[in-house]
Amino acid sequence: MADSIKNLILIASGKGGVGKSTVAANLALALAKDGSKVGLLDADVYGPSVPTMFGPAQPQPAGDGKRLAAIERHGIKVMSIGYLVDPNTAMIWRGPMLSGAVTQFVEDVEWGEIDYLIFDLPPGTGDIQLTLAQKFKVTGAVLVTTPQTVALSDVIRAKAMFDKVHIHTLGLVENMSYFVCDKCQERHEIFSYGGGEQAANDLEVPFLGRIPLETVVREAGDTGMPVLLKEPTSQSAKAFIDIAAALKVKVDLLYADAQVKNRRQSALKIITT
Ligand SMILES: Nc1ncnc2c1ncn2[C@@H]1O[C@H](COP(=O)(O)OP(=O)(O)OP(=O)(O)O)[C@@H](O)[C@H]1O
Ligand SMILES: [Mg+2]
Ligand SMILES: [Zn+2]
Repeated sequence: MADSIKNLILIASGKGGVGKSTVAANLALALAKDGSKVGLLDADVYGPSVPTMFGPAQPQPAGDGKRLAAIERHGIKVMSIGYLVDPNTAMIWRGPMLSGAVTQFVEDVEWGEIDYLIFDLPPGTGDIQLTLAQKFKVTGAVLVTTPQTVALSDVIRAKAMFDKVHIHTLGLVENMSYFVCDKCQERHEIFSYGGGEQAANDLEVPFLGRIPLETVVREAGDTGMPVLLKEPTSQSAKAFIDIAAALKVKVDLLYADAQVKNRRQSALKIITT
C-alpha cells in the first residue's frame, strides 16, 4: 500500500443519532484548518452521512487503476460507502459481511499522505471494531454521547467494547449539551449539566468538550457544508475547533508516552546486558 496514514481515529457511540457523523465531519475539517492532511471515511452502510454533509460525488478510479480515488472536499479527502452502495440493499448485510466490506473499503481507497484518517463507524456490533483492531494500527477511539442518562449508559458499553478489543479511548465528546436559542441567543440548559464529563471521569477517559444543540448545525449538515465552514463564528464551530485541539494533544501524548516507554526499555537493556 503506497498510502501513508499516520493516525486512524474511530468516531463511535453506544447509541444512534447522537451526532457521531456530525462530530466526525466537523472534527475532520477542524483538524485540517491548521494544515494537517485529513481524510474522512464514512463506513455507515445503513445511513451514510458524507453524501448529505459534503454533497454527492461520483468516485473515480485512482491513478493505479485498481483502487478508488478519495474525493476532495473543502481541503479534506472524503469517501463514503454511500457513494458506492444503495443503503436499501445494505439493510440486509450481516455482521461478518459488514466487517469485511469495511476493511476492504479502507484498503481500496487511495488516500495518499494522511495525518488523521477520521473513521465514522457504523452502529457497532463489535465485529467491525474487532476486525479493524486486528487489521490496522488504530490510534484510538473518540466516544460521542448526548447528556441523557440512556445515552450515557450506552457509552459505557461502547467503552467496554473498545477495551475488549484493545482499542485505546482517546476521549469523550458530549454533543447537544445545551441549547443555543434562536430567539434570545442565550444558552438554555435543557438537560442536567455535566453528565458527559461525569461519565468521562467515571470511565477514566479524557473529557474533550461539549457541543451545543444549535439549529445551524443541522441546517449546515443538510446542505453540503458542515457548520464549521458554513457558520464559523457559531458556538458549535468554536466548540469543534477546541475539541480538535484537545484531541491533537491526546494523540501527541500517546506518542510521547510511547517514546518514554521505548527509552526506558532501551535503558533497561543497557543495565541488564
Ligand atoms: N449539535 C447539534 N445541533 C443540532 N443538530 C445536531 C447536532 N448534532 C447533530 N445534529 C443533527 O442530529 C441529526 C443526527 O446527527 P448525526 O447524523 O450526526 O448522528 P449519528 O450519531 O451519526 O447518527 P447515526 O447513528 O444514524 O449514524 C442530524 O440531523 C444532525 O444534523
Ligand atoms: Mg452517522
Ligand atoms: Zn431563549
